Amino acid sequence: MAEASQYVEHARDGDVHVLRIANAPVNTLRTEVRAGLLDGLKAAGGAKAVVIIGSGRNFSAGAEMTEFGKPRVPPSLTDVFDAIEASPVPVVAAIHGNALGGGLELALACHARVAAPGAQVGLPEVKRGFVPGAGGTQRLPRLIGLDALKIIVGGEPVSAEQAVKLGFIDAVVEGPLEKGAVEWARANAGRSFTLARNRNDKIAGYDAAAFDAAVKPLTARTRGQESPLGCVEAVRAAFTMPFEEGLKVERDQFQRLVSGEQSQALRHIFFGEREAQRVPDLPADAKPLTVNKLVVIGGGTMGGGIAMSAANFGLPVTIVETSEEALERGLKRCEANWERTVKSGRLSQAEYEKRRALLSGSTDFEKAVGEADLVIEAVFENMEVKKEVFARLDKAARPGVVLASNTSTLDIDGIASATKRPELVIGMHFFSPANVMRLLENVRGSATNATAIATATEVGKRIGKLPVLVGNCDGFVGNRMTGKRGPQVEKLLLEGCLPQDIDRVMEGYGMAMGPLATGDLAGLDIGAAVRKARGTVAPIADAVVTAGRLGQKTSKGYYDYDENRKRMPSKEVEQIILDTAEKMQVRRRKIEDQEILERLLLPMVNEGARILEEGVAYRPIDIDVIFTNGFGWPAFRGGPMFWADRMGLKAVRDKLAHYAEVTGDRNLQPCALIEKLAAEGGSFASLKRAA
Ligand code: NAI
Repeated sequence: MAEASQYVEHARDGDVHVLRIANAPVNTLRTEVRAGLLDGLKAAGGAKAVVIIGSGRNFSAGAEMTEFGKPRVPPSLTDVFDAIEASPVPVVAAIHGNALGGGLELALACHARVAAPGAQVGLPEVKRGFVPGAGGTQRLPRLIGLDALKIIVGGEPVSAEQAVKLGFIDAVVEGPLEKGAVEWARANAGRSFTLARNRNDKIAGYDAAAFDAAVKPLTARTRGQESPLGCVEAVRAAFTMPFEEGLKVERDQFQRLVSGEQSQALRHIFFGEREAQRVPDLPADAKPLTVNKLVVIGGGTMGGGIAMSAANFGLPVTIVETSEEALERGLKRCEANWERTVKSGRLSQAEYEKRRALLSGSTDFEKAVGEADLVIEAVFENMEVKKEVFARLDKAARPGVVLASNTSTLDIDGIASATKRPELVIGMHFFSPANVMRLLENVRGSATNATAIATATEVGKRIGKLPVLVGNCDGFVGNRMTGKRGPQVEKLLLEGCLPQDIDRVMEGYGMAMGPLATGDLAGLDIGAAVRKARGTVAPIADAVVTAGRLGQKTSKGYYDYDENRKRMPSKEVEQIILDTAEKMQVRRRKIEDQEILERLLLPMVNEGARILEEGVAYRPIDIDVIFTNGFGWPAFRGGPMFWADRMGLKAVRDKLAHYAEVTGDRNLQPCALIEKLAAEGGSFASLKRAA
C-alpha cells in the first residue's frame, strides 16, 4: 500500500483540524484515503472540530470502482465512519465540486455538512447497477424522509442549494470554502449535533402506501433493471428497521447486485464511454481548432437538431438553406421544439431566449460559410448533391476550416474528393432526433487528418454528444450492424412469428423499441427505397408497403395505430404474412423466444466482429457504447459485444454456424475473428487487453 499520508493532508487552522483528501483527479476513496482519514481523525486530538475537505476540483467522486471484485483491504469506509461518529468533537464535511456515492456517504456520516455554491451531491450507484453500500440508504432517509427515494432510486445529483432545502446540507458557504468551513465549524463547535444514524423524526410513522406511491414514478421506466428495486428495498429498511439492521439489508443488496451481470454491464459502459472518446492513434500534439461559429448546411430534420444542440450548449450557429421558405420552416421547427420544452417546465423562458439568440439563419451560402469555424452539412442523402455542396463549401470556407458531413451512408472519401482539402473532410454522423440523441459517430476518411478528428471530437463533446471515431464504410458501425438484423426479421416473420412476437422479445430484453415498431416510426418506405436501390427483395416487408402501410405516418405499418399512436396488432398484416408464407411454401412453426433473440442479436455480433477485423471500430467497447447510446440497447445489458462475451464465443460461433445452415443466410457464417477467438478460448474483452 502506498503511503496513506500522501492521500490525506493535514492542516491546523487554530483550534480546527483540517483533513484534505488528495487523490487526484476526483478523490476516489481508495484504500490509502480511507486509512489516511482514520489516521487523521486520531491525529486531530485536542482540536475543537475537524473539517474534511477535498483538494482539487472535487470533494470526492466516491468509491474506487477498480477495487471492486478484488480482496478487500482494510480499513473499510464503515471503519472510517465509525471513527467519525465516535469523535468527541464535531466532524464537518466541506463539499465543493462533486460529492457522489461513497463521497456523499462520507459526508452523511459526519456531524454536519457545508458546501460551496453550486456543488453537486448525489448517490448515482443505481446507475452503475448496485445500491449505495456505506450507509447512504440508511442515513439519507433519516435526514430527509421520503425525499431520499428520488436521490437514491433516481440516481440524479442535486445542487447544494437544493440539498439545503431538502435538509441534508446545513449551509452553503460563500467565498473560499476551506476558510468558510473552518469558521462555520468553529462557530458551531459548541452545538450538540445529532448524528444521522440517531435521527428518527423523518422516518417515524412508516406508511407503506405513501412509500409505494413515492416509488412508483421512479421505477416506471426502469423495466428489467434490478438496481432500482434493490435501492427501494434498502430505503424501505431505513423506515422499518433499526439502523444496524437496515445497514445489513443495504449490505446484502449491495453484495448481491455488485457481483451481478447487470452491474458489470453498467460499469463496462460507464468506463467504456470514457475510453471510447480517446482516439488511440492521434498524435499527442493534435490540437482541435478553435470553434466559435458553427454553420449547418440544410435546416431539415437533422440540420435543425444539430443546430439546436449547438445553441443548447452555448455555441453560436447559423443554418443555411436554399430558400427563405425552407429556412423559415427550419427555424420554426427549432423554436417549436424549444417551446414544447418550456411548456413542459424543463426549460426556462430566459434560457430559451438565450438559446434562440444563438441561432441564426441565412440563404447567403457564400457569406455564411465564409464566417464559419466549422461546417456541418446535412442536405439530402445523394452523392451528386453532396459533391456539389462540398465543392462550393471548399471555395467559400476559409482555408483550414474543417468541413463535416452528416451523411448516414455515403462514402466520405467520395464527398472529400469534391474538395481541395480532403484532409479536413470528416463525417459527423448524428442520430435522430439530433438534439436528443447522445451518440455521434465521427467518420474518418482515408485522408482525414488529426486536426479534423480532434476538432470533430472536441466540438462533439462541447455540444453534449458522445463522439466515437469510426472508419469509413457503408453504414459505418451502428447502421451497418443493425442492417444485418433486417433479413432475419423478415425470415422470422415468414417462418412463424408475428411482428408483436419479435418486438415483445426485444423489448423484454430491454431494448427501447422492437425492430418492427422502430420501422413503423421511421417510415417503412425508407427501407423499401434502400432495397430497390440495392436490388434486393423482402417479400413481407415489400407487401406491407405495397398495401399502403408506411408506418406511423399513415397510421398503419406492421401495426395499426390509434389517434394516440398506440400500436395494436394488425389482422391485415397477419394475413399478408400468412399469404406470403403460403405462396412461398414455407411451413410456419412456433418459434421460441430464445431463438428470436439469438437470430436478431447474433448477426449483429458477427458484423461487429467483421468491423473489428477491418479496423472500422478500434475496440469492442466502441461498438457497445455506440449501441447503448444510439440504438436503444439497454446499458444494463452492456451492448452486443459484451452480450456475446457473456454467452462465450465458442457458443456464439456454434450458434452462428447452426443458424447459417438452417436459414441459408450466409451472413451468419461466423467470421474469421470469431472463429479464431472461439478456437483460442478468447473473448472480445481479451482482444481489447491484447491491443
Ligand atoms: P431533410 O430532407 O429533412 O433535410 C434536408 C434539408 O437540406 C432540406 O431542408 C433542404 O432544403 C436542405 N438542402 C438541400 N440542399 C441544400 C443546399 N444545397 N444548401 C442548403 N440546404 C440544402 O433530411 P434529413 O433527414 O435532415 O437528412 C439530412 C442528412 O442527414 C442526410 O445526409 C441523411 O442521410 C442524414 N441523416 C439522417 C438521419 C435521419 O434519421 N433522418 C440520421 C442521420 C443522418
